[in-house]
Amino acid sequence: SELLLSCSRNTEQIPTRKAGGIIREALENEVNVMQKSSSVDLVTKTDQQVEQFIFTSIREKFPTHSFIGEESVAAGQPCVLTDNPTWIIDPVDGTTNFVHRFPFVAVSIGFVVKKEPEFGVVYSCVEDKMYTGKKGKGAYCNGLPLQVTDQTDINQSIITCEFGSDRSPEVVDKIFSTMRKILCIPVHGLRGVGTAATNMSLVASGVVEAYFEIGIHCWDIAAAAVIVTEAGGVVMNVDGGPFDLMSRRIVAANNKTIAARIVKEIDIFPAKRDDAP
Ligand code: IPD
Repeated sequence: SELLLSCSRNTEQIPTRKAGGIIREALENEVNVMQKSSSVDLVTKTDQQVEQFIFTSIREKFPTHSFIGEESVAAGQPCVLTDNPTWIIDPVDGTTNFVHRFPFVAVSIGFVVKKEPEFGVVYSCVEDKMYTGKKGKGAYCNGLPLQVTDQTDINQSIITCEFGSDRSPEVVDKIFSTMRKILCIPVHGLRGVGTAATNMSLVASGVVEAYFEIGIHCWDIAAAAVIVTEAGGVVMNVDGGPFDLMSRRIVAANNKTIAARIVKEIDIFPAKRDDAP
């Protein structure tokens, strides 16, 4: 719609910047931590407050749309993607960073129609970087166009990845084994800033060549997936198959050559789908 089109130019239309302001204020004052599924899966009062704020503001404008939000799902709301226009929201991507004041925290708001990502905003609020992408309309950071690198040589590449929050030794072993194989290709470096949305925005910005992870959720990647593809990149499954937002698996890369090279090294482990009953 016209409003959504204007959103991609004028991000004030959706409440991302205000949400980032709430996060920055909390970082300066009090961070109120609680545990979710385990001692390394954290949530804060700010996650809940920001999600409520975003939901309420968007619902006022789009009352018929559906919503999937990290904290609403944690509170028992269903995580089901239908064909209805759906906002997929991570109020604080990088909650562990937020808790420790490690300075990379993002608000991620994705908009999906008929299960296809249409529009995404990632606001890396400590850096004050507003990444936007709209299908067919390009990707931007603070209004400047984004473009992935044209690197096709994995040996000249820098890759981002994360450890996630599953600490079962079998999973950690697979993650380390994948990282070891990729590092020893060799690549120039392995990095990870602690938020999937920001790692992907770095792919879109042409700073790193790729990002991969098993175990992320749809709210971590819905917005940034559009930003990556609109910056000229690709998103796919970790087995090289088509991207599936609810599968909890992603490779995001500057091009198919780099993505395929990474796919070759990934030790896949099971992660229960976001939409599993
Ligand atoms: C997490 C971050 C992290 C990734 C995890 C995500 P959250 O999101 O994106 O980088 O490794 O898989 O769950 O919990 O901070 O919103």
